[in-house]
Amino acid sequence: MLYDLISKTRSFRRFVEDEPIAMETLRYLVDLARLGGSARNLQPLKYVLVNTPALKAKIFPHLGWAGYLKEWTGPQEGERPAAYIVCLLDTRLSKEADCDLGIATQNLLLGAAEKGLGGCRIASLAPGLRDVFDLDDHLQVLQVIALGRPAETVFLNEQGPGEDIKYWRDTDQIHHVPKRPLQEIIAGEHD
Ligand SMILES: Cc1cc2nc3c(=O)[nH]c(=O)nc-3n(C[C@H](O)[C@H](O)[C@H](O)COP(=O)(O)O)c2cc1C
Repeated sequence: MLYDLISKTRSFRRFVEDEPIAMETLRYLVDLARLGGSARNLQPLKYVLVNTPALKAKIFPHLGWAGYLKEWTGPQEGERPAAYIVCLLDTRLSKEADCDLGIATQNLLLGAAEKGLGGCRIASLAPGLRDVFDLDDHLQVLQVIALGRPAETVFLNEQGPGEDIKYWRDTDQIHHVPKRPLQEIIAGEHD
């Protein structure tokens, strides 16, 4: 069921670090991203696929994790991502691709969920991340997708009246994500 797959496609930030993801799987996920819609069909997104320990270690310090969880500095050793897909914009093709990026990354994360994997979009990136890669000038880093087999439980909660939309963790470290109720986001119905 599509509803179940989408419900399962959460942002995961703790992983089974020592369970590698094959390059073939990463390529499959990028292939799903490739099939998404693109404004003017320009398809300006490019990807760097990373599953080597050395490069993963260089990427990690540049990532900003879970801004709402002030006490948490990000995944510890052993629960860090098993792989990354770095999303780039080819500025020769377009100067902006936020909408394309959303479509592409959702396709990718749905594919990950289908395979029992999970991921998190990281848009909070330190400027130095670019220097980790040997990128041509026309390639701009937009986002990093962290991937792996999830080592945490994420629950969707229906946001109650007066409740915050900030995600939070309970005493068992279960991650809760409040979603606004359906009736709140339907601004009109003309049946
Ligand atoms: C465009 C975008 C950028 C995001 N950037 C980050 C980020 O830098 N760090 C992070 O930990 N999560 C990031 N997230 C994940 C969101 O926090 C997450 O989608 C939100 O809390 C809802 O949880 P859910 O994805 O499980 O529905 C990003 C999500 C989106 C869509």
